[in-house]
Amino acid sequence: MKFKTLTEFIIEKQAEYPQASGELSRLLNDIGIAAKFVNREVNRAGLGEVMGYAGEVNVQGEDQKKLDVYANDQFIAALKSGGQCCAIGSEENDEIILLDSEISKHGKYVVAIDPLDGSSNIESNVSIGTIFSIYRRRTVRGVATIEDFLQPGRNLVAAGYVLYGSSTVLVYTTGYGVNGFTLDPSVGLFILSHPNMKYPETGTIYSINEANYIYFPEGVKRYIQFCQEDDKATHRPYSTRYIGSMVADVHRNLIRGGIFIYPGTIVSKQGKLRLLYECNPVAFIAEQAGGKASDGFRRVLDIQPKALHERAPIFVGPTYMVEKAEALMKQYSPEFRLE
Ligand code: AHG
Ligand code: MN
Ligand code: MN
Repeated sequence: MKFKTLTEFIIEKQAEYPQASGELSRLLNDIGIAAKFVNREVNRAGLGEVMGYAGEVNVQGEDQKKLDVYANDQFIAALKSGGQCCAIGSEENDEIILLDSEISKHGKYVVAIDPLDGSSNIESNVSIGTIFSIYRRRTVRGVATIEDFLQPGRNLVAAGYVLYGSSTVLVYTTGYGVNGFTLDPSVGLFILSHPNMKYPETGTIYSINEANYIYFPEGVKRYIQFCQEDDKATHRPYSTRYIGSMVADVHRNLIRGGIFIYPGTIVSKQGKLRLLYECNPVAFIAEQAGGKASDGFRRVLDIQPKALHERAPIFVGPTYMVEKAEALMKQYSPEFRLE
């Protein structure tokens, strides 16, 4: 049987760019390895109490930790060992983590990561994920600073996510298309399963937490109404699908064709999702898959971040769906424009 592994694919891509030093390849590969460890723990999450894991000391003599802390530790350890990454910004840590060992402090890249996305879904066996952004550092030498992270998403070198779902999938882009790899658990390899991913021509799904309806901008309410209208020619009414794990919602919508919305509201104008490690990586993938990501008015990737954990509204999916929502935001909710 002929197949291509993630590692083979990364090496092959690197060979297409003679100027590439191999550092990004190593970094991506390390993320793939950490994802396998996290996948193993996610898969036996429910066994904690049965097997006496939780709160116990494990064989290495360490306390068993909650899964999002475990995932955070795994990714940090993987990024530390390689030496290509000089700092990490994680949802789990208030401040950036400086990797200032002799090998790491000269690393060219910084990584922003949500180690476990949708973690409230773990106990009910619903899909969860990991999302990451890779930027080239801005500072030239010395220990990294927060400035290295405060770059608009259009500067991203690579971004991706891992979805721990009915199977485990790693999807990433370096700005030359989007490729997806499915983990074969029997051999522990990510195999290329979704080459050159693109949004379908037509989408019929909208994903939004409608419980917040009364707080939504009028433009979003109008868009929901549009999705629910009867119009055979445009396949409406669409279907609602909302998992509550952004990675899972965005991945399904990429495969099936649909828009994911987490808007700003009258309670929180910036929405909920974090710009650096939730909105930007998803926006980069969406654009590379022929789609669009907007905060309702602006391209997500053009937003200049001011803080590590800054939030932003997001409308992401096939271009025509996002543009329809943007048109209604502009017409009915101009007061929600940020800047
Ligand atoms: P996290 O588990 O990393 O905190 O993220 C949860 C996020 C995201 O995955 C999801 O789309 C969103 O929160 C769901 O929020 P609501 O419960 O407000 O719909
Ligand atoms: Mn998250
Ligand atoms: Mn998280």
